[in-house]
Amino acid sequence: MKTYLVTGGAGFIGSNFIAFLLDTYKDIKIINLDKLTYAGNLENLINYDGFENYKFIKGDINDSVLLNEIFENNEIDYVVNFAAESHVDRSIENPSIFVETNVLGTLNLLNTAKKFWQKAEDIYIEGKKFIQISTDEVYGSLSNEGYFTEETPLDPHSPYSASKASADLLVQSFFDTYKFPVNITRCSNNYGPFQFPEKLIPLVIHQCIEKKQIPIYGDGLNVRDWLFVEDHCSAVDLVIKNGQLGEVYNIGGHNEKTNIGLVNKIIGYLNEEVDENINKELITFVKDRKGHDRRYAIDPTKIEKELQWKPKYHFETGIIKTIDWYLDNSEWLNNILDDEYKKYYQKNYGKLN
Ligand code: NAD
Ligand code: TYD
Repeated sequence: MKTYLVTGGAGFIGSNFIAFLLDTYKDIKIINLDKLTYAGNLENLINYDGFENYKFIKGDINDSVLLNEIFENNEIDYVVNFAAESHVDRSIENPSIFVETNVLGTLNLLNTAKKFWQKAEDIYIEGKKFIQISTDEVYGSLSNEGYFTEETPLDPHSPYSASKASADLLVQSFFDTYKFPVNITRCSNNYGPFQFPEKLIPLVIHQCIEKKQIPIYGDGLNVRDWLFVEDHCSAVDLVIKNGQLGEVYNIGGHNEKTNIGLVNKIIGYLNEEVDENINKELITFVKDRKGHDRRYAIDPTKIEKELQWKPKYHFETGIIKTIDWYLDNSEWLNNILDDEYKKYYQKNYGKLN
């Protein structure tokens, strides 16, 4: 019986990951530690309320006293660190919280896990592992050609990606210095249910349903490499089980789309399925994001070859499943797009309503 400490498990990917684990394995225990910031929502896991092998703890990964208590009271086998401030635009507005959570919080988790897992100098209890959930954004930006491999030098541009790269370097340093058991995963952009509607896909769906303007930054030709969230979860699961200690694994499914291409696809589907008044006229080009990375694209060869990982969802199926989910959960989408964020967004990119 393995016990997972999943941090940030009330957010988009963390909650999907917990659901994935609870649906896949019966003989595990999960502790979800989440601060419940604006991005955390316990509704995401309502189906698992009352499960005996799942426990939620509200708290901050920077809280050493709480972390010590969790490790003292539970035999933690895996730490899977999803907890983060995750939105590039917010990091441009206020970088400090990104360093506090993404960098200092990760260091605090590393220190605590090391303290409880260490048997002797450079020796740890067998089977323990710290998994850092990172992002392709740490590699910076590509031109039209090429892919990010695990050897691509880190070259982050936004305060968000700089904070994630810093955390990655700390995690790697714990392996290099103390032989502390770690893996780092670097995934491309995720899409799927429960993504906070500040991010492109749920934001566009929300605006379409409300027949409000869809703000596209710059010329709309920036490229992102999209992966259905469940495929990210299955990759992390494999890395936990079979990843070689100290290694980094890129995760991606070769699904590059320009932002405008993606938005047109969403509009096209909603136009046919929901309302013909949802059309391209809703698109509004707004000023570009500062330091906007042009293109991300992952080379997933290593995880495919070493761990036999393969994504299950083609983009065409995943995106329809995703749009349908938001259509069925439009109240959820509306409820969490708070006034504070709308004001912030309006200041930077224009009115959302
Ligand atoms: P999210 O913003 O939806 O969720 C983050 C969660 O972390 C929230 O539940 C929040 O309450 C929690 N949290 C924030 N600060 C905390 C703290 N100090 N202590 C405890 N909990 C805290 O983010 P997401 O999109 O689910 O991303 C999860 C992780 O995956 C992040 O580390 C992100 O860098 C990484 N990632 C995201 C993507 C993507 O496309 N969303 C792609 C690759 C990697
Ligand atoms: P986002 O979902 O914020 O993810 P990331 O910046 O981490 O890749 O944005 C995805 C892309 O969409 C990015 O190129 C910025 C762009 N974008 C818009 O054009 N308009 C928007 O309203 C948002 C939120 C993003």
